[in-house]
Parts: sequence; structure tokens; C-alpha cells
Amino acid sequence: MPALAVDAAAPVAHAFASCVDAARFPGGAPMLMVPTAAADSTTTTATKQEWSADLSSALYNVDGWGAPYFFVNDDGDVAVRPHGAATLAGQEIDLAKVVAKATGPRAAGGLGLPLPLLVRFPDVLRHRVESLNAAFDYAVRSTGYGSRYQGVYPVKCNQDRHVVEDIVEFGEPFRFGLEAGSKPELLLAMSCLAARGNPDALLVCNGYKDDAYVSLALTARAMGLNAVVVLEQEEELDIVVDASRRLGIRPVIGMRAKLRTKHAGHFGSTSGEKGKFGLNAAQILSVVGKLKSLGMLDCLQLLHFHIGSQIPTTALLSDGVGEAAQIYCELARLGAGMRVIDVGGGLGIDYDGTHSAQTDMSVAYSLEEYAAAVVAAVGRVCDRRNVPHPIICSESGRALVSHHSVLVFEAFSASSAAAPHPMVDTAFLLEGLPDDCRADYRNLMAAAVHGDYDTCALYADQLKRRCADQFKEGLLGLEHLAAVDGLCEIVARGVGCVDAAPRTYHVNLSVFTSLPDTWAIGQQFPILPIQRLRERPAVDGVLSDLTCDSDGKLTSFIGDRDSLPLHELPGHGVGGYYLGMFLGGAYQEALGGLHNLFGGPSVVRVAQSDGPHCFAVTRAAPGPSCADVLRAMQHEPEVMFEVLKQRTDDATAAALAGAFGAMPYLVFDADVSGGECSGMSSDSEGSAAGAAEEEDEEWEFMRGLTV
Ligand SMILES: Cc1ncc(COP(=O)(O)O)c(C=O)c1O
Repeated sequence: MPALAVDAAAPVAHAFASCVDAARFPGGAPMLMVPTAAADSTTTTATKQEWSADLSSALYNVDGWGAPYFFVNDDGDVAVRPHGAATLAGQEIDLAKVVAKATGPRAAGGLGLPLPLLVRFPDVLRHRVESLNAAFDYAVRSTGYGSRYQGVYPVKCNQDRHVVEDIVEFGEPFRFGLEAGSKPELLLAMSCLAARGNPDALLVCNGYKDDAYVSLALTARAMGLNAVVVLEQEEELDIVVDASRRLGIRPVIGMRAKLRTKHAGHFGSTSGEKGKFGLNAAQILSVVGKLKSLGMLDCLQLLHFHIGSQIPTTALLSDGVGEAAQIYCELARLGAGMRVIDVGGGLGIDYDGTHSAQTDMSVAYSLEEYAAAVVAAVGRVCDRRNVPHPIICSESGRALVSHHSVLVFEAFSASSAAAPHPMVDTAFLLEGLPDDCRADYRNLMAAAVHGDYDTCALYADQLKRRCADQFKEGLLGLEHLAAVDGLCEIVARGVGCVDAAPRTYHVNLSVFTSLPDTWAIGQQFPILPIQRLRERPAVDGVLSDLTCDSDGKLTSFIGDRDSLPLHELPGHGVGGYYLGMFLGGAYQEALGGLHNLFGGPSVVRVAQSDGPHCFAVTRAAPGPSCADVLRAMQHEPEVMFEVLKQRTDDATAAALAGAFGAMPYLVFDADVSGGECSGMSSDSEGSAAGAAEEEDEEWEFMRGLTV
């Protein structure tokens, strides 16, 4: 019997190695050999020398999706050009230094914030606002367009107070306004525009409306805000007319048109004739008729439409804008007081840096080309119809806020590169096996002797399945199951069918909270290590988050990758290997949920400064604590604490209070303790890396459950 060719009592790893064919495994059956530590370190040194920051930049296509804001610097860190292409050499901000400042121990000048960390760059936001306005301004001036651009920011993209306030402030010279889609959004838009907006700025009120919403919008007009109530459905007209009569406030009305132009990508599902929103031709005529009969046709001043987010090409854009411009001209012909054409959102982001229209991850135009296409399409139609050029409004959200923030999170452990080489006691294994399993084993060994690796794999598989069945029947013990698994692993390595699956990196993050679109719609964001980029990232990894959910992972990445090039971690469970998720400033924060009660990240606001490190942290706040997320689910942390306190001593009670006050994420030795943030007070001292100017520093530490 071929099985006799091997010593049945010898550990199988050796027995199998002895019968493998040297030609198949040149160099002596490498699959069966565990690399030595010495060999490993030699390889690492060699690859370090061969690699460079430029190669990393090319590998992750940083210039493709990141320009003009993100690049890899000579230190091998991701860095930020806060003013885009206008950033001077000494103004670039090293992201790794920002993270060190934000998360470092307070005793060493850090802010002691727990990860994950959202880093906001208001300068980038300013640059986006200015670039959008400059692009339209150029298109208007260079074509002799007879009116102007006056955009609004749709607050649903990111309702964070500081983001909205920044946009209104930076947009003030451009009469930049806001768009709201619900009552709370309208309230925040009203107060923000009232406090710091340009008096001419538009306040576009979209979304389905009831009397309360419409009344609020009319009240905004009475306060001197330039609010426009946009009808999403024909029925809303009656609500507007009634509220206007009751309040004695004359409305400015807009109308959302349902275009026939349809965008084929994921974000186009709300467009086209069957789209969810807007009025069709008959409904538009009906609204015009009603307004005319009420003597209110002059109130209809704005035409709105939205082709969909991430419009892929300027050809589709021109088509849709051209169609809408025809409707605009028809409304003017019918006697409406038309003044504004609002082209909605859709100005896209090049998430994968390919500048192509093939997927939802990219778009085949620049900001300037987008603006030129809109202005040209409106101008062309109005000229043909002899209608005065309207003010062009856009509701560009994604394009304004995507770049302004970076989410930084840690990988804290990874599945091992190769499982330790199993040693199998064959005598023990054979002793307990039933006859059919023994036959499989013998056939397996025979095939090995003859170098028939396909047959080897077949018998190994059969043996494993039979043993699993025996185990389920209670006929084999765990030791046998482990021995068979070990044997099959040895065979797999020997025949070269070791599973080459990427390694799993565990990240201190909730995908559902911080990157919900990756889970919900398969969105990909650029993700890469923010440091060590002068070292070759030699490991292919996927990312698995903290939640107890099989969907809590990232397995597809820009560039058509199903794994991400990563580095070996500094150690297991130590933290300190930082990854950045870029271009996620739109939608993710508000869409994120509380799955497993993981709350949002800590947040810092980082401005370019003339200090030695080029940045100042002007605002810092830890993320929601365990108490905060419990409260969000109607629990009462204070009551819970009192109940638990009855059962323990003072020292343990203090620890319990700390647990309520800490963020829900993991804390590692390399990190500052999350507890360090608890009840922390303002402090601008010792801020070594990029210290904020004192007048800029407004620490907001919002937590602390006291015993
Ligand atoms: C009516 C409306 N306006 C503006 C936007 C913002 O679009 P984007 O983020 O693509 O600019 C949206 C998003 O879908 C929208 O529905």
C-alpha cells in the first residue's frame, strides 16, 4: 500500500514533506516551511529600501483623487494643502502630526482625544466655496452670460453647525445661501443666514411640506430672509396659499420640475419621468393656472430640478439643464415672474481618481467644465427663446464638503500571515478513525507519493468532510477533528492551494456609524495608511470593524481592488497604525447610525497657521460617551449608575462612572486613555505640535459623569 511509504507514526508534516516532488516545490517544498524570523527581517529591510513615498502615492492614486488637497510628503505621511493649489510650501499640514497632537497624552502637549478622529479643515471648505464660485464666475464672464451665479449649500450633506456656519461665512461675498429639506434644517438655515448670511442669499425650501413647514418659510421671509418655497408636489400650492393668507406674507414660490432626462447611475433613480419628486408638464400647467387665477403668478420665480447626485458627464448635464431651461422659458412665456433657475445638486466627486464616467465612483469632468456646461446650456436656450438670462443657482453639496474632513482610525490587530505549521500525530489520528476515513487517508498518502496533487486535494477534502460528519454524530472527539484539520492544512500547503485570501485587519471603528454608505450603497472612499508610506505596504488586507455584524467590514476599495495594501502592524492590540478615510465629508455624518451603540468620532478643527507646525487646532471635542449613546436609546445613565452603585464600593463606583463617561471604542496602551477626556477642562497649555493661538482656542469638552 502506498501509505506504507510513510511512517504512520511520524508527525505528518515531515512525512508529507518527504514525499513531495522537488520540481513542484523548487527550493525544497517552501509551502511546508515556516519562514524564519531572520529571513523575514532581511526581506523587510530590502523592501524598505526599494520603496518610496512617490511609489505609495502612485499605488493609492493619491494625486488622482486627492489633488489639489492631499498628497504624500517626503516623510511618508499624508499631508494636506489647505488652500489647494494656492498653498505655499510652508503651509502644508502633516496629517500624522495632527493625529499626534489630537490623540497624544496631555502631559506631552497632546489633547488626549480618543480615536476614531474626524479632522475638519475649514480652509479646505473655504477653498471649495471659492473655487465653485470662481468656476461659475469665469463661465459667466467668458461667455457674456447676462446674469450671475448664486448658489446654495444643501445642508443635508452635512448639517454640522461649524460646517454650515463656515460655508455661510465664506460664501457671504458671493451671496451664497442654504437649502433645507425639513423643518429642523430650515430652522438651522434660518438662524445661520440671519446671523451671518448675505441679505440677498437664497434660502431654498425643498422637501415635502406641511402647514408648519410652509409657515416657517413664510416667517423667514417676514424676517427679511430670501426664502423660496419650492413645490415638490402640486398639492403643496394650496398649503402655501392658505398659510400666506393666514399670515399675511406674500410667498416667493419655486417649482420642482420632473425632467425626462434620466441619469443611469445609482443616484439617478430619483430622476426621469418616474422619479420620486417634482411636477410633470400637466401639473406645472395646473399650478400656473391656479396662481394666475389667484393673481399670484408673479410669486412663481424659481424653477428647480435635480438630475441626481454624481452626474457622470457634462453631456448628460447639458441635456438635463437644456430641458429645464426650456421649461423655465415656457414659465416666463406663461407670465410667471421667473428670476432663478436652480439646477439642483449633482456636481460629482472623483472618488477613485479615474476621471471617468464608467462608475458612480468618478465623474468625467472638472469643476470648471461643470460650470461651463451649465452656463452654456441655460444661455443657449434662453437666447433662442429670447428670454432674459436667469440667475443660476446650484445646490452642490457633495462637491463642497467631501474634501473638508478626514476620518482617522486605527487598525489594532490582524489575522496572522500564515498559521503556524501544524504537527499531526498520525498514529493517534489513525487509531480513532473509522475504516472509510482510514481509506481516504491511505489514498491521500498514495497520491502524495506519486505527486498527484489534484487527487491529494480531493482525498483531503473527502477525509475532512467524513470526519466532520463523524464528529456531528458524536463518534469523533475534538482532538481528532483538530488533527484532521491540521493534516488537510499540510496537504493544502503542499499542493499549493493555500487560500491566498487577504489578511483581515481589525479596525477601531464602526462602518455603520462612520462610513454608512460603504455598507448601504457600496460606496468606495479612498482609504490608506496616513504614515509609513516610505515603506512598502506588503500585505493585502481587508478591514473588519468592531460591530458584531458580518456587514461591518470593508472588502472593496477604489481601483477595483478587493484588498488594500497595508503594512505589518507594530504589534497586536497596541494601536498606533492609522488609516485615513478621505472624501467622506458629505452625507456620512448624518446617515451614520448607532449600531452596537458605537457613537461618532472625536472631532478636531484644524486651521492652517503660521506656527512651526503649520496648523492650529481651533476646536476639539471627544465623540459621544457611552452615557450619550445610551441616552439616545432612552436609557437614563444617571439612574443606571445609581442602581449599579448600590452594589459596589466607592472605588468601583468611580470606575463605573468612568465607563459611562468614556467613548465606546477600544482604548490601547499606545493611546491615551479614553478616560483622560472625561471631565477635561479647557487647556491651551503645552500644545507642542501646532499649538493654537490662544484666542483661537475654544475647547469643547462636553462630557463627564461625576460620582
Ligand atoms: C434636491 C437636492 N438638491 C441637492 C442635492 C445635493 O446633491 P449633491 O450632493 O450631488 O450636490 C440633493 C442630493 O441628492 C438633492 O436631492
